[in-house]
Amino acid sequence: SETEPEIRKGLVGVVADVSAVSKVMPETNSLTYRGYAVQDLAENCSFEEVAYLLWNGELPDADQLKAFRAEEAGERAITPALHGVIRAFPQDAHPMDAIRTAVSFLGLEDPETADVSEAATRRKAMRLLAKIPTAIAAAHRASKGLAPVEPDPKLTFAENFFHVVLGKVPAPEVVKAFDVSLILYAEHGFNASTFTARTITSTGADLHGAVTGGIAALKGPLHGGANEAVMHMLAEIGEPSKAVAWLEGKFDHKALVMGFGHRVYKNGDSRVPTMTKYAEKMAEVVGDRRWMEMSRLLAAEMLTKKKIHPNLDFPAGPAYHLMGFDIPLFTPIFVASRITGWAAHVIEQQADNRLIRPLSHYTGAAQRSMPAR
Ligand code: CMC
Repeated sequence: SETEPEIRKGLVGVVADVSAVSKVMPETNSLTYRGYAVQDLAENCSFEEVAYLLWNGELPDADQLKAFRAEEAGERAITPALHGVIRAFPQDAHPMDAIRTAVSFLGLEDPETADVSEAATRRKAMRLLAKIPTAIAAAHRASKGLAPVEPDPKLTFAENFFHVVLGKVPAPEVVKAFDVSLILYAEHGFNASTFTARTITSTGADLHGAVTGGIAALKGPLHGGANEAVMHMLAEIGEPSKAVAWLEGKFDHKALVMGFGHRVYKNGDSRVPTMTKYAEKMAEVVGDRRWMEMSRLLAAEMLTKKKIHPNLDFPAGPAYHLMGFDIPLFTPIFVASRITGWAAHVIEQQADNRLIRPLSHYTGAAQRSMPAR
C-alpha cells in the first residue's frame, strides 16, 4: 500500500525558490522591496524610481532616473493595429480581459517577443510598462464610445495615466495618492499572479506570455479582483449606518468579506495604513466622507468579531473611486503597477531557471483492465 504524501493544499507555507526582489515578513507585518520598507518608498519616491529599483536592485541617481523616465515616456504609443483590435472588443468586455488580450497582441507586434535573453526581456518590460496604460485607457474609453487620448511624454507615469483615461490631470495631491497606490501594488513575493508568471517563464516561454498569464491570474476576486469587489460592496451597503448590520448578515452566511484576510499576513498588512492615509486625503479633497467612514466601521467590526485585518485592496477600492476612476478600472490599475514586479521575477527566474513542475497525489479509480469492446 502507498504511503500518503503530505499535501500542502494551495501550497500554503511552501517555499518554492529564493528571490532577492522583495521580502514579506508576516511576523512584523512588513514588506520591503530590495531592502527598503514599502511605506518609506511610498512616502519618499515616485513610482518610476520604485520601478527602477525593482528592475535594477538600487534606487536611481538623478541621471539614471531621467534616462528611465525618458525611455518609458518614449514608448507609450500603441499602434493603429492595436487600436483597431481594441475597437473590435465587445462593448461590455471586462477591462481585465481587454488588457489581457491587448498584452497578448503586443506580444504579436513586439520585434523581440521570443528573445528570452535578459537584455531583450528588459527592453520588452519597459515597452509593456509604457504601453499598458495606453491600452487600458483606449479599451475603457472605447467601451464608453469615447475616442482614445494620445499619451503625453511630458507627463509622469501617474499623471499620464489620468490623462489617457480621463483626459485631464487632477491636483498634485490626487496624483500623489495614485502614485502611492502604484508603489504599494508594485511587488509582493510569490503571490498567485507572480508565481504564474514564473511558472510560464520556467518553461522557456517569453515575457509577453508570462504577463498575459499573470493578468489572467490577477483578475480573480481572491487576488487583484478584490479591489473592485470592495467598492461594489461599499456601494451595496450605501451608507455608514447600514455597515454593521450588513456585515452581520455576511457572518450569518459565512460569506467572504472582500478586502479582508491574507494568505501570509495574519496580523495586518503594512501597506494598509499608508493607503488608508491617502484614501482619507482623497475623501477630504472630494468632500465625501461616506466611503471612508463605512470602511472604518467595517474594519473595526471585522477585527472585533472575526480577528481578520484588511488587506491593501480594502483602502485602494474607495481611494480609486474618490480619484474618479470607474470600478472596472481598479484591477487594470493593479496590472499597470504589478508589471514591474512580474518583470523583475521573470528576469530572476530566467537567470537561474529550473522547470517548475510539482507532483499530484492520484485519488482516481484504481488501475483496471479495459472492458471488452
Ligand atoms: N471574510 C471572511 N472570512 C475570511 C476572510 C474574509 N475576507 N478571509 C479569511 N476568512 C476566514 C476563512 O473563512 C477561514 O475561516 P475558517 O477557519 O472558519 O474556515 C479563516 O478566515 C482563515 O482563512 P483561510 O481560508 O485559511 O485564508 P487563505 O489563506 O486560504 O485565503 C484569502 C486568503 C486572501 C484568499 C482570503 O482571506 C480571502 O478570500 N479574502 C477575500 C478576498 C481578498 O480580499 N483578496 C485580496 C488578497 S490580498 C491583495 C491581493 O492579492 O490583491
